[in-house]
Amino acid sequence: MDNTNIEELTKKAEAFIELLYAELDKSEEKTENRLISVREQINNLGSYHHTEEELVHGARMAWRHNSRCIGRLFWDKLEVIDARQAENEDQIAEALLQHVERANNGGRIRPVLTVFRSGEDESQRIRVWNHQLIRYAGYPSVDGSVRSGDPASDQFTRVCQQLGWQGTGGNYDVLPLVVGIGDGEPRLFPIPTDLIQEVHLSHPEIERFSELQLRWYSVPIISDMQLEIGGILYTAAPFNGWYMETEIGSRNLGDTGRYNLLPEVAELMGLDRSTNTTLWKDRALLELNRAVLHSFKQAGVSIVDHHTAADQFVRFQQQEEERGREVSSRWSWLIPPMSPSATPIWHDQSLKELDLSPQFLYQSPAYQGWLEALDGPLKSADSELISSCDSDSMETTTVSLPEMACPFHHKM
Ligand code: ARG
Repeated sequence: MDNTNIEELTKKAEAFIELLYAELDKSEEKTENRLISVREQINNLGSYHHTEEELVHGARMAWRHNSRCIGRLFWDKLEVIDARQAENEDQIAEALLQHVERANNGGRIRPVLTVFRSGEDESQRIRVWNHQLIRYAGYPSVDGSVRSGDPASDQFTRVCQQLGWQGTGGNYDVLPLVVGIGDGEPRLFPIPTDLIQEVHLSHPEIERFSELQLRWYSVPIISDMQLEIGGILYTAAPFNGWYMETEIGSRNLGDTGRYNLLPEVAELMGLDRSTNTTLWKDRALLELNRAVLHSFKQAGVSIVDHHTAADQFVRFQQQEEERGREVSSRWSWLIPPMSPSATPIWHDQSLKELDLSPQFLYQSPAYQGWLEALDGPLKSADSELISSCDSDSMETTTVSLPEMACPFHHKM
């Protein structure tokens, strides 16, 4: 590491330790001693090691700081699993499977983050290649055949197939875990079926709804972002909360670029699709979202509706204000993708985005170079796909289209 990097890391480390130790009410003496030891480690090793306490609270702060997450009221309940000792792919996969189990918790979803060793040494850098630990494969149409599965996974599915994985070609094939260290060949780990918790969708009134045979998995575990704490980058730090119903009902199942199910749902409901003015899309969306809430509830799997989540977000804002902290917020991500103007977030003109640390950051897909070696440089359509997978974040919806502009920016 050169001197500027050392200096920068030292600055970030100091800022983090000071912030954290103040939040935790530590004495000045303790803070000073820790600062001395951190500076010493950085000077000698070019890096420093977080204590368990720093890691746990740092990860929670990263959640609290995430401007795109509506679910942050529960930031200090995040359970942090320290897996920095995991050395090889087998041990990493083992920890990932444990994460799945711990998060699922038989339906009472627990917010969990598992953190692996930090990524200073590139040759030892850990990456989880999956976007989420559990996600459905996507199979594009070949020669005019009908496509299947989740279009958001098309590219990663091809990576898995190249690595020797075979799916059924169906709509809900759960992808295997893919773990890579440095530029070593990545390794595949199928997820044992008894660890995969899914919910089959039915509707509280529309009996025939279950004929659509829709389902979704119970817990979204984002696994491709990096966690930055005090200047240290953890390139593998999968985390999860529980679902808000619109993520599944409006976006994953409803988006035209995803499962695109509004026409089918409308058909089942006998709606007139010949004109926009019947609002058939809106009616189908509503019932799809009701089905998600109803089915999760019936299956005993935690989920939150968007009105409750928005109210909880307002409580989070109040709580933070009482504690004298500013909240970083991105309006276009916080408004839910159904009836947004019926939530208080829509009307809040005070939201602004701040540059806060600790934080969750995007990183380019772990398979990018690997795919390019296979196919040559990715075409622009491909890289767009890549950057859209990249634009997912904690506790809110996947934006797979160019991001919606915030009207306030234009009004002001
Ligand atoms: N929107 C993503 C999905 O539908 C999940 C993002 C994280 N969401 C959450 N509730 N923690 O799969």
